[in-house]
Amino acid sequence: MGWCPCSGKSKKTTKKKHSTKSDYQIQSTSDKLKVKPAFNVSKEGDKDGGSDHIAAHTFTFRELASATKNFRSDCLLGEGGFGRVYKGRLEGTNQVVAIKQLDRNGLQGNREFLVEVLMLSLLHHPNLVNLIGYCADGDQRLLVYEYMPLGSLEDHLHDLPPDRKRLDWSTRMRIAAGAAKGLEYLHDKANPPVIYRDLKCSNILLDEGYHPKLSDFGLAKLGPVGDKTHVSTRVMGTYGYCAPEYAMTGQLTLKSDVYSFGVVLLEIITGRKAIDNSKAAGEHNLVAWARPLFRDRRKFSQMADPTLQGQYPARGLYQALAVAAMCVQEQPNMRPVIADVVTALSYLASQMYDPDSESAQSFRSSSSTPRARRDQ
Ligand SMILES: Nc1ncnc2c1ncn2[C@@H]1O[C@H](COP(=O)(O)OP(=O)(O)OP(=O)(O)O)[C@@H](O)[C@H]1O
Ligand SMILES: [Mg+2]
Repeated sequence: MGWCPCSGKSKKTTKKKHSTKSDYQIQSTSDKLKVKPAFNVSKEGDKDGGSDHIAAHTFTFRELASATKNFRSDCLLGEGGFGRVYKGRLEGTNQVVAIKQLDRNGLQGNREFLVEVLMLSLLHHPNLVNLIGYCADGDQRLLVYEYMPLGSLEDHLHDLPPDRKRLDWSTRMRIAAGAAKGLEYLHDKANPPVIYRDLKCSNILLDEGYHPKLSDFGLAKLGPVGDKTHVSTRVMGTYGYCAPEYAMTGQLTLKSDVYSFGVVLLEIITGRKAIDNSKAAGEHNLVAWARPLFRDRRKFSQMADPTLQGQYPARGLYQALAVAAMCVQEQPNMRPVIADVVTALSYLASQMYDPDSESAQSFRSSSSTPRARRDQ
């Protein structure tokens, strides 16, 4: 589940076609990060009332070491491309938190650390993970997040231990709709818009009741402003989730995120991984496998996760696959805007599906697939 650039095997950048100036003026003083962003978010999300001076809570290394019993291995929650994540309990407040200790691998990691702190200090939404604070003691870089008790979506879709319950259809649709809402906030409520760039199942964390929250903003970018249609940047992200035009040209748009969202939605529906080299030839890449099947509605039932054992509404499956198919179209301008994806998925998530009742509501009450606008 390692982090990697789209078009290569190494952990970091493969392409450097364009300059990558920082989007912010960042000042790292002794223990506080200060930022003057030309950036605002709508009232709904801005708890600080539009302040242009953000100071996130800072922790000392000693505080975080004691919260994790000295980063003891039994506190380890997981490990990604940037470092290890531990469960901890903060002294004083007793709050349970997740603490990500970044590998001390120099400038690139430091940049991602700063972007993460800045983004999460500015952006607040029920479907984004909450950053509680950070530690920048000496060369130590740690991020302190709210603890998400159900782990990541990936933990519930792929390689499940035998005792873990599979997600049912309704929960899957609610997770998809919530993740889309988090992305809609970044695209439509933040100004300038934020391109998330790293949407994948391991970055969708689950709170109680399977409430989804997007995490990991270290790769996020401010989107194009004014007449510009894209921002040019190095190609970063995760193989299997990267939009083809972005992987090829480095031109990043909001539609790159919509493509990644489509891949996640396909994983949710099919239970397959974005890339799975253990599958038969021709089935390694989920989108490549799905494309020919999208053309024939009769094949849609073959695409449903077999572990659902047929317990899904037929019409709901068609509609969810239709949304996924639109999101992963090759041409970015043919993909829907995320607001339309939210509308479609909120509708699907609102449909009650009771596998024990043959006349599930979704069969009766849905008349047509919600239509998605193609472009803004
Ligand atoms: N806030 C959190 N609460 C609970 N568990 C978390 C939290 N943040 C991360 N985790 C766990 O730690 C694991 C590693 O997370 P991390 O973000 O470092 O890597 P990743 O997303 O799996 O991979 P990548 O580095 O490629 O993005 C996650 O898969 C998740 O299970
Ligand atoms: Mg992650």
